[in-house]
Amino acid sequence: MSKTDTSEKLMEKIVSLCKRRGFVFQSSEIYGGLGACYDYGPLGVELKNNIKTAWWNAMTREHENIAGIDAAIMMHPKTWEASGHVQSFSDPMIDDKTSKIRYRADHLIEGYIKQLEKKGKTEEAKRVNDEFVKAQNSDDMTKALYELIIKEQIKSPDSGAFNWTEVRQFNLMFSTKLGAVADEAGIVYLRPETAQGIFVNFHTVRESARMKIPFGIAQIGKAFRNEIVKGNFIFRMIEFEQMEMQYFVKPGTQLDAFEMWKETRMNWHIERLGIKPENLVWYQHEKLAHYADAAFDIKYKFPFGTEEIEGIHSRTDFDLRRHQEYSGKNMMYSDTETKEKYIPYVIETSSGCDRNFLMVLCDAYTEQIEDGEPHVILKLKPELAPVKAGIFPLTKKDGLPEIAEKLYHDLKRHFKVQYDDAGSIGKRYYRQDETGTPFCFTIDHDTLNDQTVTVRYRDTGNQERLNLSQVKAFLTEKLS
Ligand code: GAP
Repeated sequence: MSKTDTSEKLMEKIVSLCKRRGFVFQSSEIYGGLGACYDYGPLGVELKNNIKTAWWNAMTREHENIAGIDAAIMMHPKTWEASGHVQSFSDPMIDDKTSKIRYRADHLIEGYIKQLEKKGKTEEAKRVNDEFVKAQNSDDMTKALYELIIKEQIKSPDSGAFNWTEVRQFNLMFSTKLGAVADEAGIVYLRPETAQGIFVNFHTVRESARMKIPFGIAQIGKAFRNEIVKGNFIFRMIEFEQMEMQYFVKPGTQLDAFEMWKETRMNWHIERLGIKPENLVWYQHEKLAHYADAAFDIKYKFPFGTEEIEGIHSRTDFDLRRHQEYSGKNMMYSDTETKEKYIPYVIETSSGCDRNFLMVLCDAYTEQIEDGEPHVILKLKPELAPVKAGIFPLTKKDGLPEIAEKLYHDLKRHFKVQYDDAGSIGKRYYRQDETGTPFCFTIDHDTLNDQTVTVRYRDTGNQERLNLSQVKAFLTEKLS
């Protein structure tokens, strides 16, 4: 999707807010940073944890037939042979011999097609696109992509040269050596997805949690991919977090479960993350993996384009069958009632935590013009907001700070709250609006007489009086 000036600007503003207010910043910045690696700051980690908790609670606590696990990042190397990652978890890459810059061959062709469209060469763009689809579906995709680049004389976007290497497949998995002896047998991988930790634990979790089919296993954790193409802030990173759930069902019932999970997951984004429904779209995979019998992605309309945040895929019995084959261990399920034995089919819901984070920020970012100046309000759902309330004494005298401090200390054991007595009350409200704090409580001179405080609502700026003793109950109710 082409970028507009406004969307580029919006992204710049969000990135700048993230750094300025401590949501996300470049990793090891003092050394110039490391490409596609980011650190979450004090407010970012709160927001990210709140997103993870919202997912964890919705998936595990609210589904008595879903159990959670936390598997190790490194797994037996055979896992990745069984899963197919060693053989085929790769991207087709091509190098510009002049500039030495490496590109993804498919992205290069996509960029070329977009350029043709931009120039109004619609017919030509359609012809190249048809050939591109054919190349992607061909038996030797690598060769077909190379031939298309050469035939169309696609030039390097950076150097303008037409001086390409062949297209080669680069595996995205990071490998490292286990133990002191550096031989082939010691190679282990940093997991590129959390899902395999679930598959290999299928029987252990089923037995220990006393689950019967249909049931699910959920996990949140880090995954690593040596992405050559990086960018769009935290959208594509080499170290990121996934929130995945595998739902094991009886063969033949998978498409009903698939529909149920499609609906459940879309609703979660709308109801629990508060995403505007018009910004979410379904994308149906036309070309299915050989083992899949249905695959949809949920995409979000980011300022830089409509991109995937979650996949919901029906993966048949592929993964368990392969682990049975490679490990020699039985992966069959025995139904004690019907006496049937089968390898369960799997519906997978796989969401990127960092992409959810970016989506939540983009969706909540709002600007209002006040006194001729743009006033940023992050309209986050209160449950997700990093800080739930700001506590302010109107002035630093007349006993107001003592009351405000007491309120702050009473609340801080239950909610993430912030005490702020610096600057005008307007500035203090503004600081909280910009980071999405839904409520502010101000202690003023009336508090001394009637024990009430002002509560101000972030999204409307409306204010009302509330008894001091009611503040905790007020927050509990608003955040539940
Ligand atoms: N187990 C299936 C699986 O891993 P995927 O589509 O490759 O499927 C699932 O990844 C989700 O993980 C994506 O929808 C995306 O949200 C997130 N994700 C994948 N690669 C990512 C990256 N490099 N940076 C950030 N998030 C990523």
